[in-house]
Amino acid sequence: MAMQASPSTFIPSRVKTSPLLFSTTNTTNTTSIKMMKKKKKSNLSTIKANSTLNETILVASPSPESSSSVVSHPTQPIMKRVTTDSLQYESGYLGAVPEKSPDFNDSTKNGDSPTLQSYLTNILTSKVYDVAIESPLQFATKLSQRLGTNIWLKREDMQPVFSFKLRGAYNMMAKLTREQLDRGVICSSAGNHAQGVALAARKLGCDAVIVMPVTTPEIKWKSVERLGATVVLKGDAYDEAQAHAKQRSELEGRTFIPPFDHPDVIVGQGTVGMEILRQADESLHAVFVPVGGGGLIAGVASYLKQVSPKVKIIGVEPADANALALSFHHGQRIMLEQVGGFADGVAVKVVGEETFRLCRELVDGVVLVSKDAICASIKDMFEETRSILEPAGALALAGAEAYCKFYGLKGENVVALTTGANMNFDRLRLVTELADVGRQREAVLATCIPEEPGSFKKFCELVGSKMNITEFKYRYDDREKEALVLYSVGLHTVCDLTAMVERMVSSKLKTKNLTSNALVKEHLRHLVVGSSLSKVPNERLFQFVFPERPGALMKFLDALSPRWNISLFHYRSQGETGANVLVGIQVLISELDEFHSRASSLGFDYTDETYTSLRDLLML
Ligand SMILES: Cc1ncc(COP(=O)(O)O)c(C=O)c1O
Repeated sequence: MAMQASPSTFIPSRVKTSPLLFSTTNTTNTTSIKMMKKKKKSNLSTIKANSTLNETILVASPSPESSSSVVSHPTQPIMKRVTTDSLQYESGYLGAVPEKSPDFNDSTKNGDSPTLQSYLTNILTSKVYDVAIESPLQFATKLSQRLGTNIWLKREDMQPVFSFKLRGAYNMMAKLTREQLDRGVICSSAGNHAQGVALAARKLGCDAVIVMPVTTPEIKWKSVERLGATVVLKGDAYDEAQAHAKQRSELEGRTFIPPFDHPDVIVGQGTVGMEILRQADESLHAVFVPVGGGGLIAGVASYLKQVSPKVKIIGVEPADANALALSFHHGQRIMLEQVGGFADGVAVKVVGEETFRLCRELVDGVVLVSKDAICASIKDMFEETRSILEPAGALALAGAEAYCKFYGLKGENVVALTTGANMNFDRLRLVTELADVGRQREAVLATCIPEEPGSFKKFCELVGSKMNITEFKYRYDDREKEALVLYSVGLHTVCDLTAMVERMVSSKLKTKNLTSNALVKEHLRHLVVGSSLSKVPNERLFQFVFPERPGALMKFLDALSPRWNISLFHYRSQGETGANVLVGIQVLISELDEFHSRASSLGFDYTDETYTSLRDLLML
């Protein structure tokens, strides 16, 4: 829970530090380390590693999407809990470069882990083509023209169940004996793995039980049922579904099929790497792979780094689901305190044990991307191919584009794995909204205008004819001399935007560009804000992550109301794992301890946004 922060400091020793210059900033409750790195093209960019929140040490426990590995290692590492914001760097930068483990080639320390050679052999002889297609490697014409480098799309979204996941599931299941197949298989998943297992089971003529959380949307469990599997809805969250699946696997003798942390699953996913090398005519600079638990990247890297070692293998993670980057950074697997659910296919708190062992040795680093950039890539893909990717499916494309821009890459060949198209249709609204922001075609701003006749007209004149206002929110407040206007403009160039802000400021209209602020994009831009928003006595703002299940709102209200007055409430569904809710509550400072104790008892993640948001953003 993000609220238990007791500040601690760490030096990001595992981040490649050689070209970086450190400077340390101390404030009362945070210590952050800022690193400046020179870009190839000589302009500077800032990379931030901060440690404002605590790192709790605890003994390894299972991740939401991880499952027991068949690989036994002599010692279980101690697992730290860390927050996603403890390692952030600029989009496109190749960060979290791993230090190789000295134990990798030491057979006495690797238990019964398979060798790299055996991964290669097993990928070459895999039977995935009983169910999977050799997906096309397609040239992205428009994107390549825009970036000046050749972008190739490995179209795993064209697989029979619209994602690559059937490769790993089938490869593992095809190795089961007839007796094991007759006892059936079981897995837990709310996403693409479920469909992969169901399809593989149908092909192999075996019975499959798929345990999904009760919150799984009907469209998802129905498509699994349609493939002939038995769906069991169990538990509010993934962990409970997984516990149930494992229990049933023991009781009924069913084989548990893990989503990523198993050598046979990794081998199945590795066939993607084999195809890329077969299909690419020219030499490749890099292959960008989306990372959840790490099964796909471990498999792809196992093949490519042995057959074509010069090709960079770059993992891509959402900035708020960076478990692999943080594991590289700490030199061991870590557990994320909380994970962003927008790209639900990769919303994993702990990467796999075997996947981490391989990735640490074979992966070149991790690029982090924002939700906006993912949405922009979904739009790019649509414009290029008329296909709609799910967020995790567009992740690698977003990473590839950010990397090419950051390093000014020209004329190289770059592959992005487009891994899934199981898009929840309801999510498209949010995607279209954020896509233009992600491509910097829209900016979100706030300006203070005087509460007097004619000021709105003057404001519009200052916006100017070049800029198109796409959204405008204003509410009269008779207690104030100034009104706060929240608005968005469609951009032509960044210079146009800068010129507009300068026009506002020179006319004494305080203006702030809020485009990169998630709180504004997710909540405030949907509220009619007046300056009164910051004038409610004792109002504190919190962002809660509500689990998407019936009764969550009542549970919240039971804990906090009527003890305190709720002065603002904005709910916005983001994905399957949780909804972001912005809540204003009137709490006296003397009541804060009691408030936090009641809020913590809910078990919902929450952050206090009072100072970061209202004071900093809206009091212009
Ligand atoms: C569409 C999509 N992309 C990427 C991934 C990440 O794969 P892995 O967990 O093997 O890293 C997943 C995982 O389910 C997925 O569904």
